Amino acid sequence: AAEAGPAIDSHTVLYGVIGDPIRHSKSPVMLSRAFRETGVNAVYLAFHVTAERLAAFAEGARAMGMGGFNVTIPHKTAIMAHLDEIDPTAEAAGAVNTVVRREDKLIGYNTDGIGYVRSLKEEAGAELSGRRIVVLGAGGAARGILHALALEKPAHIAVVNRTAARAEALAQALPADVPKAALGPDDLREACADADIVINTTSAGMSPNTDELPLGIDASWMKPGAVASDIVYNPMRTRFLEEAERAGCRTHGGLGMFIYQGAYAFEYWTGQAAPVAAMRETVIRALG
Ligand code: ATR
Repeated sequence: AAEAGPAIDSHTVLYGVIGDPIRHSKSPVMLSRAFRETGVNAVYLAFHVTAERLAAFAEGARAMGMGGFNVTIPHKTAIMAHLDEIDPTAEAAGAVNTVVRREDKLIGYNTDGIGYVRSLKEEAGAELSGRRIVVLGAGGAARGILHALALEKPAHIAVVNRTAARAEALAQALPADVPKAALGPDDLREACADADIVINTTSAGMSPNTDELPLGIDASWMKPGAVASDIVYNPMRTRFLEEAERAGCRTHGGLGMFIYQGAYAFEYWTGQAAPVAAMRETVIRALG
């Protein structure tokens, strides 16, 4: 049953993902599996859309009555100008990764940050309320994650970045009721010592630079039992996570963020609960 979904007919709804490049994307196998698994009459394809064609794509999506689409690099910010409404989560993140069509309107959402947080809770069993969180990096990925973390009522969030001004900008943008600090790499050791969760949002450690540790972090600075989380999923277990595990920390890999951002997109499109386990199985198989 998992392999046979509804046959394509004149009611089949089109979804997809746009990016440049796009042929590496695991979204089509993951979302196609989700549609099959739930019996939703839909197909999901990868579209190679260049920056010059972004406006034309949005108009085409309206014209064809696509159900919606995901947006990946490099279009997550540029797509916003071509949508009719932007959800507050996407406004806060400054980026859209999921578009839902309602009637003639295209509405932009961001499921990366909330997908990451749901993954952290469901896969790592992490409690966020009242906890002290350290976020490494202050780029686009950090921005969305920080806003989603802030909604969970943490006791404190420290943003640590190589470039101080970017850490300050992101810390400033957090809601006023969240205790926060912007720190540099020199303060990382002290911040780790009483952190419950340390999250790498930088690209340090990503293949082929698998020897890199984000901001030179030493996992032994962390408390045993604290959660080490990495949004890098290539490799699935980064050096940071390997060393954190040896230091007695709980670990959480980056694949979950990818799976759950897709799960939220599926749920926004269909109104049904996403078949997360099947989606994960498909992605892991596709990554080989
Ligand atoms: P993304 O959208 O993936 O977050 P980005 O906006 O370019 O990409 O941000 C990358 C983040 O990773 C930044 O915080 C960057 O630090 P700087 O602001 O100082 O540039 C950080 N980063 C990237 N490579 C890094 C490395 N090797 N060591 C430490 N930080 C790194």
